[in-house]
Amino acid sequence: MKIKNKSFKDKSKKWLKRHVDDEFVQKSISDNYRSRAAYKLIEIIDKYKILDEAENVIDLGSAPGSWCQVLKNHGKSLNSIISVDILEMEEIKGVTFYRSDFLSPEFKNISKTIGEFDLVLSDISPNLSGNKVSDFLLSKDLVENALSYSLQNLNTNGHFVAKYFRTGDISDVLTICKRNFHKVTSFKPKSSRKNSSEIYLVCLRKK
Ligand SMILES: C[S@@+](CC[C@H](N)C(=O)[O-])C[C@H]1O[C@@H](n2cnc3c(N)ncnc32)[C@H](O)[C@@H]1O
Repeated sequence: MKIKNKSFKDKSKKWLKRHVDDEFVQKSISDNYRSRAAYKLIEIIDKYKILDEAENVIDLGSAPGSWCQVLKNHGKSLNSIISVDILEMEEIKGVTFYRSDFLSPEFKNISKTIGEFDLVLSDISPNLSGNKVSDFLLSKDLVENALSYSLQNLNTNGHFVAKYFRTGDISDVLTICKRNFHKVTSFKPKSSRKNSSEIYLVCLRKK
């Protein structure tokens, strides 16, 4: 038992050291972003120009809120930023936050009243168990649901970006994306940890 505790402590210490030493953690503190995830979205925006013409955007799985902060800082033409998370999120001026499961009937009703979007973002992660197969299936299910949400709620020529884990096959999801968007690609931002299997699906210009 003692050995187990010790190795748990060692792992936590290693995690803490890696976190404190991480250049994007340090940068997020000096830039006032709520998390290092901000830099992943900044890289996606710079590379794919997804904010250039966007007026209305929704951020699915938004807490603690660094993507919303980025949208506020970079979205020169934005009229509205909507965000949703099952967890509480501290207020950000100019962002309308709903504490809800984006798959719930409650949120479906809210969605009906907020209109269509030019950009749907999803950085949603499931609660990871450490089991690669079940984590992949959970994450794939969320990507499929986010894609389906985007197909129902995006304007023509709108964009969809979603995180997924590249530990399994998502070719069936890509087929649907290619049928519905002019350009479909995957992107691993430099700010995404190398040892993380996360990657972003980038679907441009809905047909
Ligand atoms: C990696 S975090 C998002 C970080 C965020 N992009 C940021 O920059 O601060 C993933 C979030 O997805 C949320 N989430 C997971 N499943 C969800 C669901 N079904 N509906 C809404 N939010 C969900 C989690 O609560 C978590 O806060």
